[in-house]
Amino acid sequence: MAVLETIVVAFWAMLPAYVPNNAAVLAGGGRPIDGGRTWGDSRILGDGKTWRGTAVGTAAGAVLALVLNAISGDVGSVTGVGLPVFPAPAIVALPFGAMLGDILASFLKRRTGRERGAAFPGVDQLDFVVVSLALAFVAAPDWFLETFTLPVLAVVVIITPLLHVTTNVIAYKLGLKNEPW
Ligand code: CTP
Ligand code: MG
Repeated sequence: MAVLETIVVAFWAMLPAYVPNNAAVLAGGGRPIDGGRTWGDSRILGDGKTWRGTAVGTAAGAVLALVLNAISGDVGSVTGVGLPVFPAPAIVALPFGAMLGDILASFLKRRTGRERGAAFPGVDQLDFVVVSLALAFVAAPDWFLETFTLPVLAVVVIITPLLHVTTNVIAYKLGLKNEPW
């Protein structure tokens, strides 16, 4: 597979995992998942992890996967790139895994004394990818191994932090997010 094709496949396959966090920023608010409960001196997760943000984020990623499936034939034949088609289990696992990874990161942040909104370099940029890929592997192993070859995974690990930083800086400048990370 040519380098450009690998990048396109990686981006395409990860879009349903990239969108949920951004959708959650737009949709956030309402009841926090931890219901305000604490563990030790800190909140379990904090006010930044809400039911609505998680549900809307997951739904946004799943809808995007359906849209990508609907257009992959046309885009594939115009560009000549062999684009992945998401099977039903991956349509749910990729976005839900992204939200779950972000939630687990907040859990770790609170356990390590980081307040809501504090930066956790490295974890902030890759948490959602790791859990999203892990759930996708469990949910659709054959599709996962066929799609996420080593070169594709390498591209994912490189482009994800770049995209994450860029979109968060944009969201911050637009006043949608309180911090640029
Ligand atoms: N959000 C949400 N539910 C989620 C994830 C995010 O409602 N599961 C919304 C919240 O409004 C949150 C915003 O998106 O404040 C930004 O997300 P994020 O940066 O992940 O949360 P933080 O507020 O920075 O909190 P944390 O320190 O726990 O990451
Ligand atoms: Mg944050």
